[in-house]
Amino acid sequence: MTAAPEDVSAILSELESRLDPAEPERTPGLTVLAYGEVSACLQLTGLPGLVCKRMSGFADEAAAERYQELVRTYLSELAAAGVQVVDTGVVPIPRPGRPPVVHLVQPELPVASLGHSILKTADDPMVVDAVERVLAATLRLAVYHRERSDGLEVALDGQLSNWSFGPDSPHLTDPVLVDVGTPFMRRAGRHLVDIGWLETPIPAGVRTYYHRRGLVGAYLDDYYDPRLVAVDLLGNFHKEGRADRVPLGVDVVNGWLAGDASVLGPHEPVTAEQVEKYYRSDADLLALYLRLRRADRFVRTKVLRQPYDFVLPGPVTR
Ligand SMILES: Nc1ncnc2c1ncn2[C@@H]1O[C@H](COP(=O)(O)OP(=O)(O)O)[C@@H](O)[C@H]1O
Ligand SMILES: [Mg+2]
Repeated sequence: MTAAPEDVSAILSELESRLDPAEPERTPGLTVLAYGEVSACLQLTGLPGLVCKRMSGFADEAAAERYQELVRTYLSELAAAGVQVVDTGVVPIPRPGRPPVVHLVQPELPVASLGHSILKTADDPMVVDAVERVLAATLRLAVYHRERSDGLEVALDGQLSNWSFGPDSPHLTDPVLVDVGTPFMRRAGRHLVDIGWLETPIPAGVRTYYHRRGLVGAYLDDYYDPRLVAVDLLGNFHKEGRADRVPLGVDVVNGWLAGDASVLGPHEPVTAEQVEKYYRSDADLLALYLRLRRADRFVRTKVLRQPYDFVLPGPVTR
């Protein structure tokens, strides 16, 4: 981070005192650089060269602390497994009379270095290189924790937009993960991240349904299967408007499954049809999750006139 940590905290506290999360774009000095599925990547004029991902919805201070601890553990587990992660500051911002928010503060990486830019504009050999490097990192993580055998499983979201490949094109460097807001860790099949927290932005009635059916936990479970991480990565080619490159990606993934990834046991090869089917059902789930969160925002802000605490993704084309 370029700014001193005290300055970052002070600037984020000042932001919190005037931010309307329901309408972030109307906040002076704030730009939404990109929307992800879960969080938004914010840029502040007071913090040049940095981006902030604002995590909110914690039930109390202890819940926010547990989240910070979990992110820190996640960062160190990834590093220990040899997966590179962008330098990430975990910055809690206390608020009067309300639980804190937590900002994840990172250097802003050039958009051209991010995987979705490479997918969209680079030539085939470079896209193959990018996908192979992500698959290698995904496998490294799975193998590391399997061999350590202390029961902790750690996973990642491999989609290309979550990685930076260095500014040095046409030569890619090993990918650096930027998406660490959902710490994927499981012990004895139990998610360490608080599922209730992920359900908080869903309207109360539907939330109970989600909770009883275990929908969020089941959604997260897929990330622990490296083959499904690869299928999801390829599925995102549809979202990024490069479905034409799915066959290229399928060949890379199948080479990996039959080669390096065979240490994880036999895996059925992937087909372009499976990729599209997986993508459609995943997109439906994510679209529903977003619609529910928007509905909750509408009721709270327009009907109940309550303060609203989440920056939701903008319109997403799928
Ligand atoms: N450090 C960064 N520098 C530049 N762009 C970033 C950075 N981190 C994230 N982004 C952009 O913002 C998007 C959303 O951020 P991400 O951390 O992936 O959040 P989500 O969990 O919501 O997917 C990314 O896909 C990427 O395009
Ligand atoms: Mg992401």
